[in-house]
Amino acid sequence: MATSSKRRLPIFLVIIAGVFIVFWVGLLSGSIMWTSDQPPLMVIPDMDNQSKVSPQEQVNYFADRSADRAPLEYTIPRYAEFYRATSIAEAEEMYSNSLPSSEWILARGKNRFETFCAVCHGAEGAGDGTIGERSATLKPPSLIAPGALTLGYTDAHLFHIISMGQNIMPGYRDKLKEVDRWAVINYVRSLQRKHLGEDALQQAHAQPEADMAMNEGEDMTDANAEGEQQ
Ligand code: HEC
Repeated sequence: MATSSKRRLPIFLVIIAGVFIVFWVGLLSGSIMWTSDQPPLMVIPDMDNQSKVSPQEQVNYFADRSADRAPLEYTIPRYAEFYRATSIAEAEEMYSNSLPSSEWILARGKNRFETFCAVCHGAEGAGDGTIGERSATLKPPSLIAPGALTLGYTDAHLFHIISMGQNIMPGYRDKLKEVDRWAVINYVRSLQRKHLGEDALQQAHAQPEADMAMNEGEDMTDANAEGEQQ
């Protein structure tokens, strides 16, 4: 008799203690968080917290305080692609668009265009990106207006502009891989087709580029007049 009543108490305590242990382990491991808005104490933190710098962060380690580092001088990244054309004419000789306009590639082009180009050119390429709201000088020409110069440009010409930039537009050869630049071009063509129709595109290409430029009264400057710019 004495032994059985002695046993009952410890079992009761064990259950209470068990509940507490589960609660505290849950709390410490971060599974139970309603008691605090602080980051959870982590019993096993894995590699969640590391002393590292994130992209675009400021660090005091480097003189220019930028966490983003350009490749060292006289070095080239592994698997680097080289853009070799130094003029539009050279680009047209060296490069041609062999990327099909499949659904997947257009989706990729749209994604890259909206990430890298839309801020200036607008999501549809009408030249109405948010940058134009701040500075009229930075407002780019429309890529989809009737008579837009780019309608008549060859794909290689567009490739050269995207790679090397043009006047105040920076080049994107270091940010977009070649295949992505072609995907962007296919996407720009699909926008032109959507807004102006296939015929307008065909007609523009039947007409030599120089005529188009003269019709527009534009003085076409060579995209690469200043060579490598960064
Ligand atoms: C920082 C703003 C900016 C960004 C980002 C930008 N562009 Fe431009 N782009 C311009 C400006 C400004 C011009 C006009 C340059 C000039 O005066 O010749 C231009 C010109 C062009 C032209 C030639 C238009 C013409 O009528 O001659 C093409 C094509 C073009 N951009 C495509 C792109 C693509 C594709 C991207 C994304 C990879 C891109 N741009 C990103 C500002 C930008």
